[in-house]
Amino acid sequence: MAKKYYITTPIYYPSGNWHIGHCYTTVICDALARFHKMLGEEVFFMTGTDEHGQKVEKEAAKRGVTPRGFIDPLVGQLKDMWKLLDVEYDRFLRTTDEDHVRCVQNIYRKLYESGDIYKAEYSGYYCTPCEAFWTEAQLKGGKCPDCGREVTLQKEESYFFRLSKYAPRLLKLYEENPEFLQPKSRVNEMVNNFLKAGLTDLSVSRTTVKWGIPLPFDEKHTAYVWIDALSNYLSGLGYSGTDDSLYRKFWPADLHLVGKEIVRFHAIIWPAILMALGEPLPKRIYGHGWLLIGGEKLSKSKENARPELTDPYELVKRYGADAVRYYLLREIPFGSDGEYTGERFLTRINADLANDLGNLVSRTSAMIVQNFGVLPPCGEKTALDAELEEMVNGLLPKVKRAMDGLNAPEALEEIFALVARANKYIDETTPWILAKDPAKRERLGTVLYHLAEACRVCAVLLKPFLTRAPSLILQSFSCPADMGFESASFGCLQAGAKVEKLPPIFPRIDVAKELAAVEKLLKEKEPPRRESEEREEEKALPQISIEDFSKVELKIGEVVACEKVKKSEKLLHETVKVGKELRSVVSGIAKFYTPEEMVGKRVVLVTNLKPVKLCGVLSEGMILCAEDEEGNLTLLTPERAVASGAKVR
Ligand code: MSP
Repeated sequence: MAKKYYITTPIYYPSGNWHIGHCYTTVICDALARFHKMLGEEVFFMTGTDEHGQKVEKEAAKRGVTPRGFIDPLVGQLKDMWKLLDVEYDRFLRTTDEDHVRCVQNIYRKLYESGDIYKAEYSGYYCTPCEAFWTEAQLKGGKCPDCGREVTLQKEESYFFRLSKYAPRLLKLYEENPEFLQPKSRVNEMVNNFLKAGLTDLSVSRTTVKWGIPLPFDEKHTAYVWIDALSNYLSGLGYSGTDDSLYRKFWPADLHLVGKEIVRFHAIIWPAILMALGEPLPKRIYGHGWLLIGGEKLSKSKENARPELTDPYELVKRYGADAVRYYLLREIPFGSDGEYTGERFLTRINADLANDLGNLVSRTSAMIVQNFGVLPPCGEKTALDAELEEMVNGLLPKVKRAMDGLNAPEALEEIFALVARANKYIDETTPWILAKDPAKRERLGTVLYHLAEACRVCAVLLKPFLTRAPSLILQSFSCPADMGFESASFGCLQAGAKVEKLPPIFPRIDVAKELAAVEKLLKEKEPPRRESEEREEEKALPQISIEDFSKVELKIGEVVACEKVKKSEKLLHETVKVGKELRSVVSGIAKFYTPEEMVGKRVVLVTNLKPVKLCGVLSEGMILCAEDEEGNLTLLTPERAVASGAKVR
């Protein structure tokens, strides 16, 4: 029976802001999946989208569409991206898929019935962008320790998962099975920062988020998005469904490959859930590093992603899928972060693909066509030939060793060492000189045969990594495109086989010129300054004295109650505690915050504004917000905990 290999990527948030960093996990998984298929294993490769939660609910509401209406086009874009990059998954799971929803409900039911899920009250800090809860002690300067953004204090009835109960088993797992989580540095982080610090039970349901999977035993609650999302690894195989044959065949997963920022969920919460379900654990979790720009994680929201050189659709359009795949698989030392620049991208693909590989295959095929028309026979071998032959024969085991360690950069390094050696062999054997001497014809044939074999074996081994070039190379030597690892050894080519001259498969790029052209394009595309912006600048307010400013009384208030103002879509009515006093305040922020979110917030309040009535409701102050160019409002809140009534100066 064929060996099984189940590999997963994380399922993606339907953010739509996809950049080359996002492609990293999935392209590596695709290469691993292709590699294992070529080893003759039965592979199942899962990916998909993580569609529930507050973020989606809010974005959709902001646009006045349903969550599905908001998500569907984005899911389409993501699938297009994978298609462009030749990512061939076996299942694209959407967490809104019916079978997934049913499976998550089954998981909750099972854990509830076994007593691993219980009801209590939750109070904690929630980071909406990360969809993660934190305790006060975990916050960094009052902000989310992962992304540094604002968190909100939330209190609600919630179901809890007995995560604390599994802490000793998790510690034992890491002690006994250090291979479970890789690289090693991530194990230390998990054990020291989380497990040894002690685990608290995890809130796994929300009543305030409607866009989620309802719990089967209490429909007021929806499933916590991370439990919903992690369950995809089981639900995608039909776990607990009517047909669970894939689950029986492929579980446990051989590899969950994830970015390092989500290791915590995969390496602590997920194994604990599996332990509670009585399921075997995945064999390996690997937390890879990030593509950075200027030392920071490449991220469109941080605006460090510049479209022409970070947008995967643009990159594939300009340089081809193989170039993007090659860069991702080759450049960043596996497990570490790697700085990304357009220049590095172009330099890498130019040097390795256009110069080294492109040169080797086009020179070899051209010399064969020019001198023999067909593949010449291999005659007597010299020591130089034997050395090349040995390298050709040794390549598969080396690539295999690297890929066992998931190390695609190392595997490609091995393949390109052979490319470099073959190019050097051309310089050493000087076939263009041999071609001038009819007495050296047999020697010329032998040299070209060796080069053809080096090209062919490189092409076969490149197949998991590149999806276009290998078949072009194989075709030019009349080899079938599905040639596999069984022929990754010297001597498979038959003399007399038809050879076609390969045109350059990767265009050579003048990196400096290309960068200048891209820069020009970006400038042309910069949005023209809006008239209103110019007017705003012109209308900059006149300077005021400190006395003028001190006429405004600003204080910290705590929102203790909040409701929508009837008949208004924009207004919320808050009761704000300022010191010992309670104030009634009306503010136009209903589009950006729900009443539930407002409760517990500390805000900056103008306390000496003349009271007015808005839509019939008394307003005794104004809550301060920041407004971006599109008119989106964000509350101003104190950076550290401070008592209500504190003066703002
Ligand atoms: N939805 C969660 C995963 C749930 S899995 C049960 C999520 N989604 S994501 O869309 O934010 O990220 C998807 C993958 O892209 C992650 O592996 C993440 O690490 C990866 N990357 C996003 N930006 C990246 C870089 N700049 N560099 C490398 N990979 C990064 O997390």
